[in-house]
Amino acid sequence: MAKYQKVKGTQDFFEKSILKLRYLENTMRRIAKNYGYNEIKTPIFEHTDVFVRIGDDSDIVTKEMYTFLDKGNRSITLRPEGTAAVVRSYLENKLYAKTSPMKLFYFGPMFRYERPQAGRYREFHQFGVEVFGKSTPLLDCDVIISANQIFQELGIKNYHLKINTIGDNESRKLYSEKLVEYFEEHINHLCSDCKRRINKNPLRILDCKVDGNNPIIKNAPKIHDFLNQESKDYFSEVLSILDYYQVDYIVDENLVRGLDYYTDLVFEFIIESNDELDGLAFCGGGKYANLVESFGGMDIPGIGYAIGVERLLSIVDSQDGWNDKIENDIDVLIISLDKLSKLKALEIAYLLRLHNIPTEIDYEHYTMKHQFKLADKLNPKFLIIIGEEERKNNIVSIKDNETKVEETISQEKIISYLKGKLL
Ligand code: HAM
Repeated sequence: MAKYQKVKGTQDFFEKSILKLRYLENTMRRIAKNYGYNEIKTPIFEHTDVFVRIGDDSDIVTKEMYTFLDKGNRSITLRPEGTAAVVRSYLENKLYAKTSPMKLFYFGPMFRYERPQAGRYREFHQFGVEVFGKSTPLLDCDVIISANQIFQELGIKNYHLKINTIGDNESRKLYSEKLVEYFEEHINHLCSDCKRRINKNPLRILDCKVDGNNPIIKNAPKIHDFLNQESKDYFSEVLSILDYYQVDYIVDENLVRGLDYYTDLVFEFIIESNDELDGLAFCGGGKYANLVESFGGMDIPGIGYAIGVERLLSIVDSQDGWNDKIENDIDVLIISLDKLSKLKALEIAYLLRLHNIPTEIDYEHYTMKHQFKLADKLNPKFLIIIGEEERKNNIVSIKDNETKVEETISQEKIISYLKGKLL
């Protein structure tokens, strides 16, 4: 056993898994750019206060943050999510003065001290988008459609979009009051966390992770009976736009999401499967009308989502969805059969690499047998073989690893030959 092991809930990515992670990242980046998002990169840690705003009663803030004092005695937190950090940056860098809506995307590691289990890590990656400055049903749908397109392009099957509205400030206030009244009547049937939530954030009781099937929670008053006309109209317009674009959804009246900043529209993408991933949310998001203001900014609305990249990766794995998406890293392996040919191999490799053709050589063996073993491992598209005879005649033998066709060409023609074939 290795002397040191990785920290519980973290993962190493290498060989196939890092290729998969990069493939997902590149696909999401490309699609986000097609939708007009620009990248933002914020630090991995922030002043703790930045994250406290996302919900001083949420599990994330109360139980799951990696918080420590730095050497200057400042309270610092490893980011548990991206939205708060992006809002901080949006205000600090006065991005609101640039364009509106401001459409941003990010990709990076997040940290939550959760109990590790399938799809739940302590370090994980999110790909997220945030849009600031406008609030219209068309924009909201465009945001949802961009996430949906990512999952479609990845060929993900058996997932659904759950969507709900938790109303505007006025509707939610009325609804919260009703929920407090209702849950107080049934307080003895609630878990200890929910008892505490009654007066702080009664909506979060609907999202109870301890006791999600509790009939008291299932039968609680529904937000839709408390929505004012404006919230109702807004939500039904969102749904009708999704209908128009044939994006399937399920309205789930108990969907409230685990962060306190949401207002109006909330949504999650959920996977159905017959393994431990079943029911897992691999993307979650919603609108946040008051978050920017709560950071001391202006009254600027926002909407966004974040995709859990490890979850997405496990889903594609479980659906055997990679096919030929995971590209080979190495295009060419040069096999060389004596000491001088090894020198020539390095020279040819240098040239190929200058032309952006990923190339590997064997550094120590002289036998075909050993070097073919390396070829099996790397599975390059082409093998170049060089021995004494080839060296003396300024030629190489070049073999297409897929068709097994082998040709002899002069060394000066290697680049043009490969460029023609690799395009
Ligand atoms: P969230 O629902 O807390 O929302 O996280 C978004 C996604 O991150 C989840 O759906 C899940 O796929 C993934 N995720 C969360 N925790 C873990 C974990 N411990 N291990 C692996 N994956 C995890 C947010 O973070 C919001 N900031 C999303 C958002 C952006 N809302 C508006 N804008």
